[in-house]
Amino acid sequence: MTSSVTVRVPAKVNLQLSVGPLRDDGYHDLVNVFHAVSLFDEVTASEAETLTVRVEGDLADQVPVDGDNLAIRAARALASRAGRAYGAELVIRKSIPVAGGMAGGSADAAAALVACDRLWGLGLSLEDLSDIAADLGSDVPFALLGGTAVGVGRGEVLTPLPVSGTFHWVFALADGGLSTPTVYSECDRLREAAGERAAWPALSEPLAAALRDGDPQGLGKALANDLQQAAIMLRRSLLRTLDEGREQGALGALVSGSGPTCAFLAESAEHALDLSVALRSVCRATVSAYGPVPGAVLV
Ligand code: C5P
Repeated sequence: MTSSVTVRVPAKVNLQLSVGPLRDDGYHDLVNVFHAVSLFDEVTASEAETLTVRVEGDLADQVPVDGDNLAIRAARALASRAGRAYGAELVIRKSIPVAGGMAGGSADAAAALVACDRLWGLGLSLEDLSDIAADLGSDVPFALLGGTAVGVGRGEVLTPLPVSGTFHWVFALADGGLSTPTVYSECDRLREAAGERAAWPALSEPLAAALRDGDPQGLGKALANDLQQAAIMLRRSLLRTLDEGREQGALGALVSGSGPTCAFLAESAEHALDLSVALRSVCRATVSAYGPVPGAVLV
């Protein structure tokens, strides 16, 4: 057994988030194109008698460290799968926005699975870890996989998508988070008020082609998020942020997942830098990143 293991795990942005009908289990059937970007959390798991978690970094006070913490839940689920009361001290170094629509909590859960699997010498396959991940949350399996992938079902049934080259992004971070269930409920409410029935979602062909061809112009046009209107209803200031990015020449602009982080596609790394500076007047902070990047990896 090793005495300490560190895993680096990326944030995600959704390139297409098509929300289908509400299911009996309270989830929606989705077509969800995940794209892992170079904004990382790190989770270190060290030998200990019991399971504990601690969060470091500027965002630390926003993360629960009780039973709600997804990394602890992940470690507990893994120990229970292995049939032993393993312990570990988990330390999360957070850079991914909390409740920001970039799957930060899911990323930490995925990292905890990979770190504890190694710390405890279990040697589970990616498939086995993905099964445990799917029970923890719809976005957790993708954080294990990384790259760019389409998720169906709740978003947990993944198929990698072919991508050429690298895409450059700017993320506009907002003050405070948005609750994912609240944003989905708002989406349902808006549809009901408009008398709309949710269509069965399908992967966007122009989006898949733009990814395959490494075509940022095409990708910018194809970006789509069915949760965007709901997130804007709950946080009106996002409209101004999105407009500003478009005015500054972003190839595409959308709310990331359930928000409130907004994502802007740039033409190049230099353009991302310019956009990042221009957007600072309309949000709390900006961060540039590129994708796709791998999922949770040992460092
Ligand atoms: O799976 P996860 O715990 O991340 O989902 C958080 C919430 O997001 C769910 O409780 C549900 O309200 C909403 N959700 C949904 N349909 C999905 C995924 C998530 O309605 N496919």
